[in-house]
This record gives sequence, C-alpha cells and structure tokens, in this order.
Amino acid sequence: MTDQNRVEELTAIRDSASAAYYEGESVMSDEDFDAILAELRDLGVEETTGHGYIPEGKVAHERRMLSLAKVRTEAEVLRFVERVQADQYSIEYKYDGLAISLVYEAAETGTAATLVRAVTRGNGDHGEDVTYAVRLMAESGALPLVLNGSPRRVELRGEIMLSHSSFTALNSVLDGKYSNARNAAAGILRRQSGTQARHLSLVIHDEGTMFSSRLTELGFTTSHDHMHVTVANSFDDKSTAAWIMAAISKVDLGRHDLDFDTDGAVIKVVGRDNRNALGDSSSAPQWAIAYKFASEIKPTILREVQWQLGRTGKLTPVAIFDTVSLAGANVSQATLHNFKFIEDMQLAIGDIIDVTRSGEVIPYIKGRSAANAELGTPIAPLTEWAGRDGQTYSVVRDDINLRVVGYLDPVTVIVYGIQTLGILGVSTSLVTKLVDAGKVATLPDMLAVTESDIVGLDRQGQKSAAAAVKAIRDGLGGATVGKWFATIGLHGLGRTTGRILEARFGSLDAIANATEAEVEGLEGFGTITTRDFLVARPRIKALADELRERHNYVPGAAAAVDTVESQFTGLQVVVTGTFPTLSRKDAEAAVVRLGGTVRGSVSKSTDIVVAGESAGSKLVKAEAAGIRVMGAAEFEAIVAAS
Ligand code: IVH
Repeated sequence: MTDQNRVEELTAIRDSASAAYYEGESVMSDEDFDAILAELRDLGVEETTGHGYIPEGKVAHERRMLSLAKVRTEAEVLRFVERVQADQYSIEYKYDGLAISLVYEAAETGTAATLVRAVTRGNGDHGEDVTYAVRLMAESGALPLVLNGSPRRVELRGEIMLSHSSFTALNSVLDGKYSNARNAAAGILRRQSGTQARHLSLVIHDEGTMFSSRLTELGFTTSHDHMHVTVANSFDDKSTAAWIMAAISKVDLGRHDLDFDTDGAVIKVVGRDNRNALGDSSSAPQWAIAYKFASEIKPTILREVQWQLGRTGKLTPVAIFDTVSLAGANVSQATLHNFKFIEDMQLAIGDIIDVTRSGEVIPYIKGRSAANAELGTPIAPLTEWAGRDGQTYSVVRDDINLRVVGYLDPVTVIVYGIQTLGILGVSTSLVTKLVDAGKVATLPDMLAVTESDIVGLDRQGQKSAAAAVKAIRDGLGGATVGKWFATIGLHGLGRTTGRILEARFGSLDAIANATEAEVEGLEGFGTITTRDFLVARPRIKALADELRERHNYVPGAAAAVDTVESQFTGLQVVVTGTFPTLSRKDAEAAVVRLGGTVRGSVSKSTDIVVAGESAGSKLVKAEAAGIRVMGAAEFEAIVAAS
C-alpha cells in the first residue's frame, strides 16, 4: 500500500471513530485511536480538532472548543513541567462525559441573563444544539436557568455526565440500550423530548475564564472541577514531575469511589495570568495536559481477601491473586476499596478476575472476567477484629464500608502522626515493636521514648536506638501547632486547615477553645468543615493537655520571620547556583529575611534571579526573558550589610 493510500485509510477510520465518539458512542479503545493518530503523524499528517467531522444541524462555537494534549508517562509530564515552569499545578479528574458550551444572555442591559443556548463540543468548531435537554437539567437544579447579578453575556464550558447511580436507576427505562453511562448521557442529551435529561449532571471546567467564587455568585451550585490536588513547584523539574505523578496516583485511587466515569487526570497550571501567558495552540491549551490512565488488562485468579485497618477505623479489603506482570511490574495484590465494591463487582474467591494497572501506577481490579464459568466462594463481610491488645472488637457496616467499633490501630495512628509532624527516620517496624512491647500507645508517647526503650527490642542496637531518638528530637523542632493539629487525623481537617488555624490562633489550646463564630469565616471553613471542627474540639483539647501535662511540651507556631526593608521587599526571587559563603538554604533564608518571596523556578512573575557560581538553565531563562540577574558578590554584600 502506498503512503497516500494508507493515509486515506487511516483518516477514514479516524474520522468515523471520532464522529462516533462525539456522538457519544466509542467504537474503539483510546489506545487504538491514539495509535492511529501516531501512525498518521509519522506519515506527516498533523492532528486537527474534530478530525474533519461536522455533525448535522451544527451550530458554530464562538470560541473554538479545544481538546487537551494527552500523555501517558512520567517522562511526558516532566517535559510539560520543563516547558511551562509553573509555580503551582492543580491535578483534577478528567471527566469522561460530554463537553458542553453554555451561553447565557440578557435580552437588554439591566435584565437578567438567561440560558439561551447549550451546544455540544462536536468537532470543536461546530456542535449540536442540546438546549432542550440542558433546560431540563436546569429544572432539576444542575445549573441555573437565570443568572444572579447582571452580566450581559456569559459563556461557560463544562462536562455533562450521567452518574453511575442514575444510570443504574434509569437502566430499565433505557431498555438496556446503552452499554455505559457516557453513551447513555449522549443519547439522553440529544433527545428533543421526554424528561430523562433531568437526571444528567454538570461540572463546570476551570478553563481560566472565571473564578470559582464568581460561579457561585452567578448561582451555580456545581463548583469548578472538584478533586483538586495542588502541587507546588519543587526546586527541580524532576521532583516536581514526581510530585505530580504522586498526585495523579491519588486521583487514580479516588476515582473508583466516584459516581462518575473518569479516564485520567488533568494537570493544569494554576493562575489565570500564568495560563494566559502560555496561551493555546490551534488544538489545545498550552497550560494543561491530560494524563490518560493506561489499561493493560490481564486475567488472574482471586485467592484471598485480606483486611487492612486504616487510621480512622475503616477496614479496606485487599485482593490477593496469582501474580501477573502488568506494565512491567509483577502484581499480586490490589485494593478492593470497600465492601460495597466487592458486592458491586460480585467478586468471589476462586474467580477469574481482570486486573489492570491504571496510570501504570496502581493495580486495580476491573471486575470478574467474562471467562468465569461458575461462581466461586462468596466473600463474607468481617464481623470481628482482633486488636493488638488481645481484645476482640465488633465490626459494623455502613452503606459502603466496614468499620471496627471502639478500636484504632495504634501503629497506624502513630505512623500517620509521625509523618504528619515531618519526623524522618522512624520506621513503621520500630513503631510496631515499641507498641507491641507496651512502650508506647499514643503519638505523644513517642516523645518520651528513650534509647533504653529501644535497645533490646528485636534487632535494635544502641546505634539505631540513638539514631531514632535523635530523629524524634530533631523532627519535633519543626513540629508546629498546625502539624500537631493534623496528626489527629480528622476527616477533611489536614495540614492546610492546620496551618490556617495556627496562623489565626497560634496554639493548640486556643484552637481547642475557638468558637463557631471565630472559625466560620476562615479560609476553607464551610458548613461541613466547621461542623467537623466543632465535633473535634474535645480531641484537640485532649491532645494539648496530654502534651503539656505528661510531656511538658507546648507546640509552637511557625516562627514569624522578622523581615527587614530592602530592595528585595515584595519581590519574587529565584536563587540558583552556589555562593562563596552562603549555602543555598542560607541564601534563600536571607531573601526571606530581606522581604522577598523565594520561588523555585523562573517565570513571568519573577523579579530577580540571584545567580551564584555555575548557575544553569534558570540563569539562561532569566537572561532570555530580560529578568534582572544579581550576581553572588552583590547579593552577599547586601546580606552582610543587612
Ligand atoms: S478544562 C481544552 N478540566 O476533556 C479545555 N477539561 O480533551 C480544557 N475534560 O473538552 C477544559 N475533565 O470536556 C478540563 N478537569 C477537566 C476536564 C476536562 C474532562 C474534558 C473537556 C475537554 C476534553 C479535552
């Protein structure tokens, strides 16, 4: 076949597959589709938005609806980081629904803007008018029909989906016509009659056109894409990419508990200005990429379910199966998330199950394989749990999970606390030995651990004992009020909340005495967080009391830095290279003392780059961007004089 014929063949397959996709029906896997695009690229055919497909009854978009560049590996994430050099990234679910454009317009100035048009993405330039269905969605509260305030004209983009629960509920009336929620959503959305569209849901995408708070003002109850993990730039691109990968794994883990389909994670540069600076290519924004979870699937046999007790008392089932090799690693276990997952999947011991490693990171079970002939041995919910203390505790079930009543595993709680406090060099196995030997029972007990407590425990010598005690002492140096607060491990009240409370109240005692009125206005304190906080107050007080009374220890707030007025005051500063007398850390501390903010990478907002000996790419970038560069000698002179 000539290249030209092959191009024509591939283009035809691509266009019909993409037409089917935009109509809501997938006819091939993402991997196969991407392989076609890759081959076309090799043949010199560039990708175009929509792949030439224009649906009938098309409506032109006023702004082209772009797609996202797709990546599948950490190396590609690293390339993105190297290119955009952002200070912060947000990682979100990639919703596998139907992209939509919503236009609200006021008939004349001073009147309210109402929904005038809803159009599917289509090929990016032209989409299908689905206003009928979207108005029905508005009736059931998925979006406002009329906006608050008096905007003249607003266009928003988002994703329309059918939740799994609605899909299940609707399935009988849908006549089993649809194979999955996305296809069903597409079918329902395009119908010009009936009322099923009331069951559809909407998320608005954070594409940088509008702040989340503005959405709320306009009357949306759906916020921007939920599930944000924000990753700050580390000091080098490689570790930033590694942090992003860790956040992607988190998205990957969480997505099975969702009521929606997600097929990846979206990595976005944070900040409207930063995004504008990066701009768009013809088909995709340059400030975001989609990480698609890979899906090599292999069958294996489920042998056993083990239960892990988490720090909140929740029991997580773990599947143990015959080892399979997936995406280059041997895998023999995977989380089953919760008891409901086992039920939903109808898993049984001895079944053939399909296992995959999504995102090439975390193994998970897709379900029973189609190859199963008969049912295996049912998996019964646990009814009791044997505590480390030798007692037996009962297990209860809520809708989704099994939980142990009245018992938390001290090792899990202590290890979580140690990590939260930032204490390095104390292993889980050491904590286990200390707990089992009766030397410690709570996190504060760790403060009183002595070398002689450790020496003599299984395989622990004097040297490792001394190292562990020192690690605890050193780690406590950085253990501030906010971190201690987070060790309690309250749902939704982690380190970020801890930092906010620390900044406002300064001590654990003050936090424990804070009133509803005092916390309510704080950042991140909505109705639910406030309620959770009020419920948790006695535990905060108990922790503060225990630390003070038994250990004579009162955690401090992060030392407020005394800054001096200088030419760095209020500026964004990047420090790179080495200095004659200052370490990098000291140099950065000096910048902070001089009133500057230290940034890890050079961007548009950088004011000064302090470049020491053998500064590399950051210096090059600063010079290219015309950013002020200060040499090591000048910098050290300013530091010495301050
Ligand atoms: S932001 C290009 N955020 O993915 C516009 N889009 O492949 C980016 N999508 O058409 C919009 N989850 O419909 C954004 N968290 C998310 C998303 C998301 C899914 C869809 C969106 C877009 C498609 C691009």
